[in-house]
Amino acid sequence: MAEQVRPGAAVIDVGTDHAMLPVWLAQTGRARSVLATDIRSGPLQNAAALIGRTGTGGFIRLMQTDGLDGLGPEDGDTVILAGMGGETMIGILSRAAWTKEDTRLILEPQSKKADLRRWLIGNGYAIGSERLAEDAGRLYPILCAAGGTSPVYSEAELHLGLLAQIGNDPLFPRYLQAMAASAARAAPHDLAAAGLLEEYKIIEGRLSGADDR
Ligand SMILES: C[S@@+](CC[C@H](N)C(=O)[O-])C[C@H]1O[C@@H](n2cnc3c(N)ncnc32)[C@H](O)[C@@H]1O
Repeated sequence: MAEQVRPGAAVIDVGTDHAMLPVWLAQTGRARSVLATDIRSGPLQNAAALIGRTGTGGFIRLMQTDGLDGLGPEDGDTVILAGMGGETMIGILSRAAWTKEDTRLILEPQSKKADLRRWLIGNGYAIGSERLAEDAGRLYPILCAAGGTSPVYSEAELHLGLLAQIGNDPLFPRYLQAMAASAARAAPHDLAAAGLLEEYKIIEGRLSGADDR
């Protein structure tokens, strides 16, 4: 996710927990500044301890707030929401319409990814790029979004990411396989999953056809 931060960015890291990412951004000099927020005081205490140990306090500001409440574009040009559910992200962004103007969103949802994509493209954002990251053997999409008009997504693309963006990621064939396995488990009692499974099979077929050429 750090790779998605543009050099010199002013970052707001929402739900920072131990402030691992802000400390990395401080130590590498990648960002200009970081405002690290969390809704709970416990994580902020852990964050303060790590910031103290690493001597990065001059660079990272801590704040306790729910999502982006009380913040605006003057606090940063890049908003990171990582390690929380898609529905939490939707709640946070729906109270922060200012993020549609000149703000880069970097989102790593842990759940409800299709709901998040659907909400973003239906609410004045466009997902400019997606890539996959691996953590403890599991694959997670990282979305970069900003205010704008979105292309149309198929139902499968709402679940996988736009194929024009994510289809060339080296981890995509594994991701597609995992998503197809999950849809296959649900398909016998879930019509929507059965429909998705058919779409996934067509995409898998296209990919293996492309490999054969
Ligand atoms: C699993 S940790 C993720 C930490 C870090 N962002 C990462 O990706 O490794 C989730 C953090 O988000 C915080 N959080 C959950 N809901 C939040 C909200 N509405 N506003 C701010 N922080 C929130 C939690 O307190 C927790 O510290």
